[in-house]
Amino acid sequence: MTELSRRECMALGIGAAASLAGLPASAVEIAPSLDALARARGLRFGSALGAGGQSDEFGDPRYRSILLRECGILVAENEHKWPFLQRGPNDPHDFRRADAMVDFAEKHGLLFRGHTLLWHKPQWLPRWVNEHDFGSQPGKEAERLLVNHINSVCKHYGTRIGAWDVVNETVSEQTGKFRETVFTRHIGSEVIDLAFHTARAAAPHARLVYNDYMTWEPHSKTHRDGVLRHLEAWLKRGVPVEALGIQGHIGTENSDSSTGFATGREEDWRKFLDEVKGMGLKMLITEFDVHDKGLPADIDKRDRAIADYARAFLDVTLSYAEVEQVLVWGMADHYSWLQDRWPRPDGLPKRPTPYSKDFKAKALRQAIADAFRAAPGRGQRTEL
Ligand code: G3I
Repeated sequence: MTELSRRECMALGIGAAASLAGLPASAVEIAPSLDALARARGLRFGSALGAGGQSDEFGDPRYRSILLRECGILVAENEHKWPFLQRGPNDPHDFRRADAMVDFAEKHGLLFRGHTLLWHKPQWLPRWVNEHDFGSQPGKEAERLLVNHINSVCKHYGTRIGAWDVVNETVSEQTGKFRETVFTRHIGSEVIDLAFHTARAAAPHARLVYNDYMTWEPHSKTHRDGVLRHLEAWLKRGVPVEALGIQGHIGTENSDSSTGFATGREEDWRKFLDEVKGMGLKMLITEFDVHDKGLPADIDKRDRAIADYARAFLDVTLSYAEVEQVLVWGMADHYSWLQDRWPRPDGLPKRPTPYSKDFKAKALRQAIADAFRAAPGRGQRTEL
């Protein structure tokens, strides 16, 4: 198989050329990268990457090459989450796995987003936090644990991480209300204020984001409304939230019972985006992928439907100049979290990301590229 030399990569104008030497020529598209296309419109493009879990794409040189070729921003799929950093209440944080990723990004000139300081839905908190003995002053002890965690993480990274998803998914998609957690039990809903104010003090340079998975689909109405009401209340109370992370897990609803493929509702979505914009918040698409559980088996048809659906969503969302970044939740299908959740009835692998298992660009990659080309320009941010 022919390989592109560093010199050839440079001559072709492909970004991160030095790192591309060694990438099979068959896997290289001679085209501007997704980040270059995004930049041309004042946007940025990036991806999640994971290490050492069910999959280890960070250890896969072909995956790294795709990241370096296409992305301007990286985010750890799991490695900055509390359960991955701190094993017990008296243990120091262990940043080794996450640091390797941040080092990699820095070495290649990529920005790094932080995800996430507080994801307090019980199943995603460290078990030791859920089972902790909060003693006779549980509010104080809960505050101590959380403040210590946020301070430790933010101070460890300093300005190396320019944006944090301070709070992730605190609004229930079923009721639109606040989720009950060990922290709401002991601190109340002001745990959000505490998290954001602590992050503000510990990372004064960073953009502070609330991240959630409301979408443009009919099943998401209660969730959208709930997120809007909570954002409004936080801003009114002076919570320093600066941007909304729209995860962008679209397509088949992410639940066991779901069988079909959703239809996006542009009007509802515009209403939502208008309200967020009206609050003065910036927006980011933070975890984009298309769940194809409800689509036909035929690969060409499936990829076409995924790409068309993604394009429609991106066209509407990127028509707002307040939307500044698009990150996908993984660049290659076989490493997607969706492979292990809610299997397709035919048992076939899913195709939710821009690249196939053999690292060939798919119709979804083209749809993202075309959406960037069609997006109206906006003022370029140099930081996250
Ligand atoms: O780290 C252990 C590893 O040591 C062990 O060998 C392995 C065995 O299964 O499990 C590993 O941890 C898993 C981890 O992914 C890494 O693979 C966890 O059990 C598993 O729960 C975890 O799932 C992640 C999930 O968040 C929960 O943290 C998914 O990869 C990740 O894609 C998903 O990402 C979330 C975003 O953070 C928030 N928005 C929704 C999105 C999708 O659910």
